[in-house]
Amino acid sequence: MTEKKRSLSGIKPTGTPHLGNYLGMIKPAIKMQATHQTFYFIADYHALTNIREPQSLKEYTYDLTATFASLGMEFENHAFFRQSDIPEVTELTWFLACLTSKGLMERAHAFKDASAKGQDVNMGLFSYPILMASDILIYDSHVVPVGKDQKQHLEITRDLAIRFNHIYGDTLVVPEAIIEDQVAVIPGLDGQKMSKSYNNIIPLFESEKKLRKAIMKIETDSLSVEDVKDPETCNVFQLYQCFANETEQQALAEQYQAGGMGYGTAKQMCFEAIWDELKEASEHYQKIREDHAHLEGILEAGRDKARKVAREVVDRVRNRVGL
Ligand code: ADP
Ligand code: TRP
Repeated sequence: MTEKKRSLSGIKPTGTPHLGNYLGMIKPAIKMQATHQTFYFIADYHALTNIREPQSLKEYTYDLTATFASLGMEFENHAFFRQSDIPEVTELTWFLACLTSKGLMERAHAFKDASAKGQDVNMGLFSYPILMASDILIYDSHVVPVGKDQKQHLEITRDLAIRFNHIYGDTLVVPEAIIEDQVAVIPGLDGQKMSKSYNNIIPLFESEKKLRKAIMKIETDSLSVEDVKDPETCNVFQLYQCFANETEQQALAEQYQAGGMGYGTAKQMCFEAIWDELKEASEHYQKIREDHAHLEGILEAGRDKARKVAREVVDRVRNRVGL
């Protein structure tokens, strides 16, 4: 592989990918393959903090692998793999855990949100950010493209790397988060953040008919066609912006402000912009999604590349701590 900087990211196999995942993480991550060496993985260890159905874990893993394949990931020059195929990651987690204060974990949002909702917090969820730091640090990653909701996890990762280096001398690469502001938080059908947990998603790969139907369900206010509308506060416009070019965005914004543009028409335009971008990938996805041997081949090749780097970094760490 080349001298390019390494971009690393992970996504949990906890549901079918949606447009929020696509715009916030998958698309920017794939774009980076032109300028970086990329290491992307399916965070199945992390998913075990709440997924209890073995079959779902497998299906969601194939969904994600087929998703990256359909969107043009070039696996020959990059690594795409399962987190759990690199057992070294749990080994590094332990070294990092020994440098992590309990107070820091209590302030981490995955744990705080779950306990605020009165949910039972398992130790996997409590120490989620340490496993995530290990995911990143174990590949000497330089940059990590993620959605805004992962910002705190990246700060914790940097803190742990700096702490380790401070105690043991320069060992771990301190990574940078890459968060695209424009697509930082994609609203779902109800205007809240689009999320599997809120039941408000628009799936990434659907048939044309189902996608159109989903777009038509986006909630809007009850202004009539003639009324002047505010593009800034409209869920349909927010999504349209992510798929249309600047001239198209400007045109729709002007039509909103002039009155006479109904939400039905805006939704149809939004659907067309999305379908235009995703049609080809969507068709490719349907073709390869059931070819499990092909998908396993991608994951195995990725595993071999990633494991080699992981072993080197963990050996470096073992050496530094005195083992
Ligand atoms: P979900 O909230 O549906 O469970 P995940 O937490 O699995 O999604 O997120 C996977 C990736 O997609 C993360 O990098 C996250 O930042 C990004 N992401 C998820 N939802 C959105 C959204 N609504 N807007 C932007 N990015 C998102
Ligand atoms: N926590 C991330 C999420 O919920 C997934 C993840 C796990 C990740 N390990 C990572 C993302 C390492 C980036 C880098 O979306």
